[in-house]
Amino acid sequence: MHQPERVTLREVAPRDGLQNEPPVPTADKIRLIDALARTGLSRIEAVSFVSPKAVPQMADAADVWAAVEKHPGIRYSALAPNRRGVERALDAGFTAVEVVVSASETHNRANVGRTVAESLAELPDICALAKEHLAAVEVIIATSFGCPFEGDIDPAQVARIVEAAEAAGAGRIAFGDTTGMGTPRRVTDLLDAVDTGLPMLMHFHDTRGTALANLLTALDRGVTEFDASVGGIGGCPFAPGASGNVATEEVVHMLHDMGVDTGVDLDALIGTAELAQEIVGRPLESGVLRAGPRTRLSPRPEGL
Ligand code: COA
Ligand code: ZN
Repeated sequence: MHQPERVTLREVAPRDGLQNEPPVPTADKIRLIDALARTGLSRIEAVSFVSPKAVPQMADAADVWAAVEKHPGIRYSALAPNRRGVERALDAGFTAVEVVVSASETHNRANVGRTVAESLAELPDICALAKEHLAAVEVIIATSFGCPFEGDIDPAQVARIVEAAEAAGAGRIAFGDTTGMGTPRRVTDLLDAVDTGLPMLMHFHDTRGTALANLLTALDRGVTEFDASVGGIGGCPFAPGASGNVATEEVVHMLHDMGVDTGVDLDALIGTAELAQEIVGRPLESGVLRAGPRTRLSPRPEGL
């Protein structure tokens, strides 16, 4: 298997995670982001600038961002569903934005209230605006590996969106497995279909237990950037059955044992997963959080 020396992880718990939980206090969001920033992570998706009616959990995005510690070595970013969201992100001072569009027509309508063509039509203007502010634009293609309403998504449809995003001036592409419908086969099919020189990131949810297998498949194909969420929290409020992202500590735990560097301190990360668990107020499903890393041994039975 091909394996890189280093993988870059973007932490998405403050956005993908907390958008899918009952609203938590602003101070807790700030505490979580600041704790994540001290684990060695180099990228954090901090908030989204979406309609507070659609996602009340993110209504305080500007307040959260105003108060977090800005670590110079970390690229913080914000997700936006439309031009209005990008404007709000730039006004708040973000220099990296992620614009979301779904590969599935039905999910795009459910998520951002318009057609895929309408979302794509806005992209050139958004990219020009971001450029004026010296900000980077990533296009996140949600439901890239399957849609909860439409089922299989043709990789050629994903490839067309990549082309449109590149033509519009986006600097990066992310493929979102919004409801964990991806499998290694789907990852391979998608990468076979997509043709771009832009940096590519993959965003897996572990809804059906395939996230780490998907990640390894992508790694083998040369992808080295992934989203992950501490404690494995996450999900899209506009996709039925959506559940958690692949847990950051599970990814780091596996990659480090394979000899792949992430720059992240696993113990500090597990501490942050405990904080996330405390903030959301329910036991989280991450195996590494529950069992500890494989290096954490039990006391030997007496006499052995
Ligand atoms: N941030 C805040 N408010 C916004 C906004 C944004 N990015 N974009 C639009 N709005 C406001 C409008 O000003 C309008 O406000 P009003 O009712 O006070 O006049 C209201 O939202 C409705 O706007 P409209 O253009 O009619 O859109 P809509 O109701 O179809 O909603 C979105 C479209 C995109 C704003 C909404 O679906 C959304 O925020 N989706 C985000 C979904 C999400 O976060 N999914 C998970 C992450 S992928
Ligand atoms: Zn997600």
